[in-house]
Amino acid sequence: MSIDNVAIIGAGLSGLALALALHQQGIPCTIYEARSAPLNIGGAIMLSPNALRILDHLGVYTRILPEAYSFDHLYFRSADDTPLDTYEFGSVSKYNYQGMRIYRHILIRELSAMVHDAGILIHYQKKFSHVRAESPTDVTWEFVDGTSASATCLVGADGIHSNVRKYLYPDLEPHFTNAVGVTAAIPTSQLGLTSEPPYPLPVTILNPKHGAFVLAPQHPTGSVCLIGRQKHSPNLTRPQWTSLLTSPDKKWCLDFLRENTSSYPEIVQRAVSTIDIETINIWPFYVVPKLGSWRSEGGRVVVLGDAAHAIPPSAGQGVNQAFEDIFTFSLVVGRCGGGGNGRLARGLKVWQKGRQERVDRVLGLNAQIDRRRMPRRPGEEDVKGEEEPFELEWLYKPDFGEMVAGWLVVEGL
Ligand SMILES: Cc1cc2nc3c(=O)[nH]c(=O)nc-3n(C[C@H](O)[C@H](O)[C@H](O)COP(=O)(O)OP(=O)(O)OC[C@H]3O[C@@H](n4cnc5c(N)ncnc54)[C@H](O)[C@@H]3O)c2cc1C
Ligand SMILES: *[C@@H]1O[C@H](CO)[C@@H](O)[C@H](O)[C@H]1NC(C)=O
Ligand SMILES: *[C@@H]1O[C@H](CO)[C@@H](O)[C@H](O)[C@H]1NC(C)=O
Repeated sequence: MSIDNVAIIGAGLSGLALALALHQQGIPCTIYEARSAPLNIGGAIMLSPNALRILDHLGVYTRILPEAYSFDHLYFRSADDTPLDTYEFGSVSKYNYQGMRIYRHILIRELSAMVHDAGILIHYQKKFSHVRAESPTDVTWEFVDGTSASATCLVGADGIHSNVRKYLYPDLEPHFTNAVGVTAAIPTSQLGLTSEPPYPLPVTILNPKHGAFVLAPQHPTGSVCLIGRQKHSPNLTRPQWTSLLTSPDKKWCLDFLRENTSSYPEIVQRAVSTIDIETINIWPFYVVPKLGSWRSEGGRVVVLGDAAHAIPPSAGQGVNQAFEDIFTFSLVVGRCGGGGNGRLARGLKVWQKGRQERVDRVLGLNAQIDRRRMPRRPGEEDVKGEEEPFELEWLYKPDFGEMVAGWLVVEGL
């Protein structure tokens, strides 16, 4: 089995970055995207050193750095505005990179420009429908417009509600976690912060009864601030979520952000005092049940990014883990893709195993973070050592070339 051209379904962050990473390995690819332009949900995303190291390898980092808001720590405070916890998101001295918040549309714009400069085609308004046939030499699939195409490998980078995944797991549905986030953007000046003493940002204010409220600067100078609230919510269908977001007055979203804010510090009340409804977004948190395999039995259909493992937001690793997927995948295909004798199949098997182990570790970290930030019951003692900073070198520091070489050597590849 060899791979000499890859079809990528989805021009989101995973699909675009994958195209660049494959190009760097000399592997031709083509992208197919359902929309007329890439998905551009508003607001900034957070990137940590593990993903930034990858984007640096791909030549993307220096292009986005001037437009990013850089920071080292996330702060957590109680409803009465006292410090609870600090979580490290980057450090030049420890990991070579600060954490950054960058608008998704800027990252998409830069990735798309680089994909274009590399001569890689993106076909928009091509919605993948289903795989027609997988043979020993290639895979053929259909689009919803009735046309079809083939390649030696088909990669589903088509997000959490992936259609490509249906070929591997026809009955699997993402699982709603009963929590949702609603976000908006405001001018940071609206927070009325004085410079002394500085109020620690980005911050999450935890209210045991009414949920978490997030304030996170974006824009290089931090002049814009994302505000967001995260709490339990009813389980709606995807069209119902969309209708909440597209209703003209966005009343449900505004109420979600504003209700009971008198139970939060004043900074939160100022944050919600004026909200431009154009900036509002909804993020219902789904998880994908653990997949037994990220590849089809024939081995020519692969899923990665959110399609393989949507991760809840506690450790801020969703997008960051997707970048790890695409980079390590391209290294494995680069090293094993031309070889016969099942080299590639074995390579992709250790790729999935290695990636799943890291995703599982991130899920474990999420659970630890959630536990730490849960309100204590009256009389419940702090667990000793619980407030120690997390050890995050395993997450932020790896050299992915070495990591992949380590996976392959175990398999004698
Ligand atoms: C409001 C919001 C805020 C978020 N904020 C953060 C954050 O701050 N940090 C973080 O880590 N994560 C965040 N996430 C999660 C993050 O967006 C995902 O982890 C990330 O986008 C996954 O990238 P992806 O490329 O794998 O999938 P997606 O971004 O979902 O991209 C999939 C692409 O495939 C296309 N597609 C889908 N189906 C088909 C088809 N059948 N045929 C062709 N194309 C198709 C879609 O149109 C889309 O362009 C947020 C999510 C939301 C909704
Ligand atoms: C949410 O609703 C869907 C049906 O719309 C159902 O299949 C699913 O199990 C529900 N999820 C949860 C977590 O209740
Ligand atoms: C506001 O608080 C009341 C009383 O605790 C509760 O019933 C209601 O659900 C809360 N609303 C929101 C949006 O949290």
